[in-house]
Amino acid sequence: MTGVSPNSQVKHLRPSELGTRDWDKSYQNDLENGFGEEEGADLTQLESWFDEVDAPQKVLEYLTSEDFPLSPTNPERTIEKPKVLDLGCGNGSSLFQLKLDGGYQGPMLGVDYSQQSVNLAQRLWKKHIDQQSEAGELEGGISFEQFDLLKDLPTEQSWWPEGGFDLVLDKGTFDAISLSGETMELDGQAVRIVEAYPRKVAQMIRPGGYLLITSCNWTEEEVVRWFTQRAEVKELLKEYGRVKYPVYEFGGRKGQGVASVCFQRVAS
Ligand SMILES: C[S@@+](CC[C@H](N)C(=O)[O-])C[C@H]1O[C@@H](n2cnc3c(N)ncnc32)[C@H](O)[C@@H]1O
Repeated sequence: MTGVSPNSQVKHLRPSELGTRDWDKSYQNDLENGFGEEEGADLTQLESWFDEVDAPQKVLEYLTSEDFPLSPTNPERTIEKPKVLDLGCGNGSSLFQLKLDGGYQGPMLGVDYSQQSVNLAQRLWKKHIDQQSEAGELEGGISFEQFDLLKDLPTEQSWWPEGGFDLVLDKGTFDAISLSGETMELDGQAVRIVEAYPRKVAQMIRPGGYLLITSCNWTEEEVVRWFTQRAEVKELLKEYGRVKYPVYEFGGRKGQGVASVCFQRVAS
């Protein structure tokens, strides 16, 4: 890690390829190569970020455990159909898994600033729905929209649900944004875009709702600091829980390859 913001004394990551990547180009390649459309392909097994450390599966287990308040397996759940938002949805794999394997029944929306990501995710979901309708087992409820998390206003979008989303997911998007050297204005100061991200995200969660961030660039403690200790989010988010991953010991130091931290939006 390197660099300190003059505004907030926060440590920054050195900008790198993931932060400047041409995402449209990556997803365009996937579209052209028929990604996920092989004969008999299973949408719950699509390649996705942090597969190598089993993060998609661990996150799914966490969100579907009996203890998680929105889980379909929680006997005390108060919301039958939670509204779920996936930030930087890529190929849509997180939502496909949560609906098809996790049994989440509510409406789901994946947003990404790459139009090709949206095209890819929509195409995969449409193919699945078409196959299902042929088999007479229609299942719906996932949509994908082009949206820039830093530049666009969620409350102005046709998809904005009054009050916000019950569950907001981010796997790898906070990481990509942290690795961008781009700057923007936050409260009258020019800051790296990652500094503006936590408040933007917090504002999309309904009071009492949840946010689950998965990162491989920041430790659990650092993720917690970004989302609960900065002045702009201090009053909005509190830590709710953490996904457990195997801990490795190397050179006398302990660590884990990935961090998934769950936050709750403070009820106003
Ligand atoms: C590392 S990929 C993760 C994709 C997906 N979440 C997954 O787990 O497979 C990061 C994603 O964030 C998207 N992204 C980056 N900056 C964004 C922004 N400002 N607004 C919306 N999406 C963004 C990229 O287009 C890309 O799809």
